Parts: sequence; C-alpha cells; structure tokens
Amino acid sequence: MDLALVTGATSGIGTAFARELAARGWSLVLTGRSESALRSLGAELGARTVVADLATTEGRRAVVSAADGVHLLVNNAALGGTFGSFATMPVEDLEAVLAVNVVAPTALVRAVLPGMLAAGRGGIVTVSSPSAVGPKAGAAAYGASKAFLESLDRSVRAEVRGSGVVVTTVRPESTRTDFHARSGQDVSDVGAWNTPEEVARAALDAHERGELLVRIPRRPAKHVARDLARVVWHHPAIQRFRTH
Ligand SMILES: NC(=O)c1ccc[n+]([C@@H]2O[C@H](COP(=O)([O-])OP(=O)(O)OC[C@H]3O[C@@H](n4cnc5c(N)ncnc54)[C@H](OP(=O)(O)O)[C@@H]3O)[C@@H](O)[C@H]2O)c1
Repeated sequence: MDLALVTGATSGIGTAFARELAARGWSLVLTGRSESALRSLGAELGARTVVADLATTEGRRAVVSAADGVHLLVNNAALGGTFGSFATMPVEDLEAVLAVNVVAPTALVRAVLPGMLAAGRGGIVTVSSPSAVGPKAGAAAYGASKAFLESLDRSVRAEVRGSGVVVTTVRPESTRTDFHARSGQDVSDVGAWNTPEEVARAALDAHERGELLVRIPRRPAKHVARDLARVVWHHPAIQRFRTH
C-alpha cells in the first residue's frame, strides 16, 4: 500500500488530510508535537506516529528519517508566530517560524525526492497561504516563509519535470482551525470560512489531477452576495442618504 507522511497532523487541516488520505486507501505516517492528539489519531487510522518538535534539530531529524520510502509528502505543519509588528516580534518566535515553516519542509523535500525520482513517481503537497503573495502586515515572517516554500516548489517542479513526481502548492483562504488563536490573530472580521475537510479534499483532488497551484477560496456565492451588500450598505453615499 502506498505511504503518505503528513506533518502537523494533530489538528486542523493536517488532521483532515490524514483522515481523507486514510479514506482514499493510503498508509500513513503522522507527525506533530501534541502526543495525545497524535496517538489517538494514529489509533483511529492505524497510522504510525512520530512525536517531534520541528523547531528543533532533533525533531526534524526524527521526521526526516520517518519519511524514508514515502510516496506522498504533505508539508502541512506551520506556525504563525506572535501576531503583530515585525519590529516587536520575539526573536525566539521568528526563529521558530523559520525552523518549522522553512527548514523542516525543505529538509523533508530534500529527503524524499531521491527515492521518488528513482521510483519514477511520487507526490509533494505543500500547504502555503495567500500570505505568500502578501503583504501580510502582522505576520511578516509567516508570509515570507510561505513565499519561500512557493519559490522552492516552483524550482523543484522545474527540476523534476517529466519524472513522474508531482509537486502541488496549495493556497487555502481562511479555514476554521486553531491557527489564528495560537498566534493571537483577531479574525472577527472574517465572514466566511473553509472547513479543514474542504481544504484537504480540494487539495488532494487537485494533486491527483496533477495541478501545480491550487487556490481554495472561502467565498461561496452566498458570502459574495452578503459581502457585496455590506460594502454597498456602508458606502458613504448610502450612509449620507440614510441620515438625511
Ligand atoms: N487556517 C487557515 O486559515 C490557513 C490559511 C492558509 C494556510 N494555512 C496553512 O495550513 C496549514 C495547517 O494549519 P492549520 O490551520 O491546520 O493550523 P493548526 O490547527 O494550528 O495546525 C498546525 C499544525 O502544525 C503543527 N505544528 C506547529 N508547530 C509545530 C512544531 N514546532 N513542531 C511540530 N509540529 C508543529 C501543529 O502540531 P502540534 O500542535 O502538535 O505542535 C498542528 O498540527 C499551515 O501550513 C498553515 O500555514 C492555514
């Protein structure tokens, strides 16, 4: 049975990837820091689990060695760091963002590619973000980390063209997970959300079709209509008319 490795499988989009891949018949290696969440998902899906902190050299090594022989790598784990001005972002946060969002996924791509190229098939799914093409005030390091990943994907894709290895970059818009609370981001103005399950399904469907860049918008038609109504309602001309 083909083997997939999912980083950040303990919550949100990563858990949804794990469940969706299991439903599609994949064997799984799941990683994350939260031991109890990881063990219980592993038991539910019959998956191997690797508890590891990707911000540490030791944690990255453990996940890289668990990636040996995988046919599909889902580089999903990320953290946002403390939401706020870059000038006041704690330097430890900055280093952790770069370690988890840049160093770890890069090391994993480097680890899995030789085996995939030798086999003449394989897949890499990178979970990016619209922040990659920012600007993303309040999350500068996070946005830059996603820009790095998208650039890496483009170059690796150019190198492996015709090899049977498919590299898919996924850009989900706002998705209801713990992500924003973890970084202290105010999301009260977000009117519409994807579910993690919608993101995982759309990403894997697109990857199976061989797509290179998948944008997953959070705006079904009803939200577009509602947002448009809100913009019109708050337009100065309408407000002037209401107050006269
Ligand atoms: N939610 C959104 O609106 C949104 C939009 C665009 C892109 N994304 C991207 O979607 C991906 C998944 O995020 P999510 O929304 O599902 O957020 P989430 O619920 O916060 O999940 C993040 C995952 O990353 C793991 N992780 C964080 N730091 C780690 C570390 N130091 N070592 C190992 N694992 C670590 C977490 O595991 P532990 O808790 O066990 O450490 C968790 O499983 C990320 O790449 C994010 O950038 C999210």
